[in-house]
Amino acid sequence: MKITEDIKYVGVNDHEVDLFEGQYVVPLGMAYNSYLVKDEKTVVFDTVDERFGEEWLKNIREEIGDASIDYLVVQHMEPDHSANVAKFAAAYPTATIVASAQAFVMMKSYFGDDFASRRLVVKEGDTLKTGKHVFAFVAAPMVHWPEVIVTYDTTDKILFSADGFGKFGALDREDPEGWDCEARRYYIGIVGKYGPQVQALLKKASGLEIKKILPLHGPIHDTPEMIAHVVKQYDTWSSYAVESPGICVAYTSVYGHTKAAALKLAELLKAKGCPKVAVSDLARDDQPETVEDAFRYGKLVLATTTYNNDIFPWMRHFIDHLTERNYQKRTIGLIENGSWAPMAAKVMKGMFEKSKDIAFCDTVVTIKGALNAESEAQLEKLADELMK
Ligand code: FEO
Repeated sequence: MKITEDIKYVGVNDHEVDLFEGQYVVPLGMAYNSYLVKDEKTVVFDTVDERFGEEWLKNIREEIGDASIDYLVVQHMEPDHSANVAKFAAAYPTATIVASAQAFVMMKSYFGDDFASRRLVVKEGDTLKTGKHVFAFVAAPMVHWPEVIVTYDTTDKILFSADGFGKFGALDREDPEGWDCEARRYYIGIVGKYGPQVQALLKKASGLEIKKILPLHGPIHDTPEMIAHVVKQYDTWSSYAVESPGICVAYTSVYGHTKAAALKLAELLKAKGCPKVAVSDLARDDQPETVEDAFRYGKLVLATTTYNNDIFPWMRHFIDHLTERNYQKRTIGLIENGSWAPMAAKVMKGMFEKSKDIAFCDTVVTIKGALNAESEAQLEKLADELMK
């Protein structure tokens, strides 16, 4: 695939992966992007997942035949991109490996080799001239690992953005939901914890003229409209701002009574004019989707049972996913169930103790088994409070 006269796509699509990064379902597969720059010197940007090494090398050979390659730039050492560095080094013994100092430490850990005799260590502000192109390296620590660099082609105004601006989904499948949905699930799940670091990178990028963004996953962004859109979305997500008006209702239920309360609340909210109510069963629905919804909307309702003097495990798991991603600037309503000693609301509230800017609704709905007139009145009151 041609990106510009000089830049070719040599990445691969993965329809075999069951769980990306060991935890994310990817119904549309996954793309591991890699780019080849043909200049006086030839450069490859990043490798691909271990299982696709041969296919990737074949893609490269289709572009350059048996010619040599001068540089492999390793922007990110997570194995979905770096697994074939050693294989590449063996296939192209005269190529120089270009990466940050920390990336070379990781190469030693992963491959037992830090390519000391054939490497170029780069840091923020360093450049690499390959003929017509001059590539400037920009440090992007924790977007998504500490060793990450992104690269700006000062000649063609192209940003090689590593994990940034990527999404779930292979490139040979059209995503009927467009870019935002799976890009949001990807961002919140994988990079969500590192908002300040993404903000720092956006600040650096704001001073650059960017004509194309070439991420390591998902489609290339090559129109001014799309570039403005993805940058705006990243600004919203990384500043933990509310993206859309609406309420996320997440529940667990053992015998259906807590579910009934969650659904009843959702009905009340819709009847009162809430523009979007996203309801999830945490035991059955994809939890990363629910994590995504919790970050997308400004208000969240958590409904669960008291269980072994604690809360139901799927709810604990869900709240851990929120707090470890620095969930903040949100309002939370609580619904608890407990047949003899309900205490789930107290436990859930306690789990957000270290979170910043979380407000809790005054009304806590307490159910002792099944909904009754008293708990239904509390649901009505909670709905009113959430709609204020
Ligand atoms: Fe796509 Fe952080 O690896």
